[in-house]
Amino acid sequence: MKRTDYCGHIDDRFIGRKVILSGWLHKRRDHGGLIFIDLRDREGIVQIVIDPREKSAYETAKEVRGEFVLSVTGEVVARPQGTENPHLKSGKIEVHVSQLEILNTSKTPPFSIEKGSEMANETLRLQYRYLDLRRAEMQENLKIRHRITRLTREFLDDNGFLDIETPCLTKSTPEGARDFLVPSRLNPGTFFALPQSPQLFKQILMVAGFDRYYQIVRCFRDEDLRADRQPEFTQIDIEMSFIEREDIMNLMEEMIAKIFREIKGFAIQTPFKRLTYRESMDRFGSDKPDIRFGLELKDISTSANISDFKVFKDAIEKGGKVKGLNAKGLSGLSRKELDELTEEAKSFGAKGMAWMKVTGQGVESPIAKFFNEEIRMAIVKKLAGEPGDLLLFIADSAEVVYKTLGNLRISLAGRLNLVPVDSYQFLWVTDFPLLEYDSDEKRYVAMHHPFTSPMDEDLSSLEKEPLKLMAKAYDMVLNGTEIGGGSIRIHRKELQSKIFSLLGISEEQAVKKFGFLLEALEYGAPPHGGIAFGLDRLAMIMTGMNSIREVIAFPKTQKGSCLMTDAPSQVDAKQLKELGIKLNVPPV
Ligand code: AMO
Ligand code: AMP
Repeated sequence: MKRTDYCGHIDDRFIGRKVILSGWLHKRRDHGGLIFIDLRDREGIVQIVIDPREKSAYETAKEVRGEFVLSVTGEVVARPQGTENPHLKSGKIEVHVSQLEILNTSKTPPFSIEKGSEMANETLRLQYRYLDLRRAEMQENLKIRHRITRLTREFLDDNGFLDIETPCLTKSTPEGARDFLVPSRLNPGTFFALPQSPQLFKQILMVAGFDRYYQIVRCFRDEDLRADRQPEFTQIDIEMSFIEREDIMNLMEEMIAKIFREIKGFAIQTPFKRLTYRESMDRFGSDKPDIRFGLELKDISTSANISDFKVFKDAIEKGGKVKGLNAKGLSGLSRKELDELTEEAKSFGAKGMAWMKVTGQGVESPIAKFFNEEIRMAIVKKLAGEPGDLLLFIADSAEVVYKTLGNLRISLAGRLNLVPVDSYQFLWVTDFPLLEYDSDEKRYVAMHHPFTSPMDEDLSSLEKEPLKLMAKAYDMVLNGTEIGGGSIRIHRKELQSKIFSLLGISEEQAVKKFGFLLEALEYGAPPHGGIAFGLDRLAMIMTGMNSIREVIAFPKTQKGSCLMTDAPSQVDAKQLKELGIKLNVPPV
């Protein structure tokens, strides 16, 4: 072994000891006499000092440059008074070197390892990911991720869960995205799909009697990417038999609480708050609300309907809503700023935005004349408006009102500095509708996935009023991000077939796509349910990052490519021929 200790572990308890260290040259200062080197490994940095009297080491030290790989032997001594560095764990000591060896040289890195994330653009960071990953911040992120998975495994193992692998080359599992397809050479003209989740396999494992299953598993979804979405990402996937919603929700709270206690060092409050989907939409305009701040949406449809303002009345007449939110203290916004805010509202789908400034005398607004004094005051009261506040209103279909105000709420919270740092607000959103109507496809689609059980009491309205059906589904939300979601499943074949037919999946299609599941349900399927967490999202929030790319060692870009390996890439004509594939578009 070329080393006795990690650089980052050495502190004043080591004084007087001889150590062998290996690592990368982080920084080098040559003061004409002594040469100082900051030597770095994954645990941190230690200062090594080379004295001209150590002739051979000194000659070598004159040649070394940034990111050279070095091995040093030396003695740990206290730093001279006044030269301590309180920012470093090893700041009270330094290592006086007797031997220095260059294990490898390095080209000059394209960006500073020290200041990587601010200095380098993300393209460079992803292209030279091995250098980016040397930075302390990235090393810390991946260590925290490792600790999350270790604690997860520990918790689930303690609770009797078995880690079972499911296939990557499989059949399409519908989770609402496009599939990544893999052609089969041995069965020309046919394709595997990479799993969007192990949903069907974990249900079949329940039928097989495994009772408690988990897997930390890669999932693949060909969808448009965002800061919290990658084409391949990792789920903490869980399924249990013989349970109700409460059982799994309680257990998952315990698991998350353990992870936070051990990594963050504090207790999060359980049980988590709960909101029904309806309440969540009404109050926050979102099914994954950030409840670290208020700025709640208020409904003024009743007042709007008795006003003379056509825009509002029309929206209500068409079955829509008028809702508003109070941008506290923003009545000073200029006309230009209000126009910008209106443009922002339009970017979320609204046709326009109305506003009222609350003053000591009443309200100031281009639409004030359409409301009599009484209605104006009722609206101000509903939004708890005080002089200095700016009230914003959107009239439209419920969907557009929620989406616009939900997004404005988040953007205003940032602007008004309402988001507390280092605050973690968990909540469960429950009682989702089972189905939504997809007006493009002109059919019902499952809000979660087609295997989610409806509430028992709703079974009677199954065919009469499908949109009224509620699902036994639950999402865990943390600071405005959906970190996990799951449900109690359908475990009877007749009901599963009925749901498929409601979704417009013919019996023939159902058998073709999910015949194996339907058949398995006929062989003594136990009642079961589960959940899956987005590990990347959990790690992103716990490390305080604003993209999951910061907690994935080798992520893809927004365009779904890997800049380091240059994947996806073209393949040989021979390979295509073997697969029976002819391209009808030229490769990009
Ligand atoms: P769902 O589709 O809600 O449920 O996924 C579960 C969790 O996975 C995370 N997630 C993602 N993370 C990063 N990039 C993505 N593209 C991405 N898509 C989803 C989210 C989400 O909450 N089989 C069901 C679970 C179940 O019912 O047990 C499922 O996959 O944090
Ligand atoms: P317009 O009829 O477009 O001239 O708009 C009259 C007023 O109504 C302006 O203050 C608009 O910003 C506002 N407005 C227009 N559409 C909406 C809407 N969908 N919701 C709320 N206010 C709107």
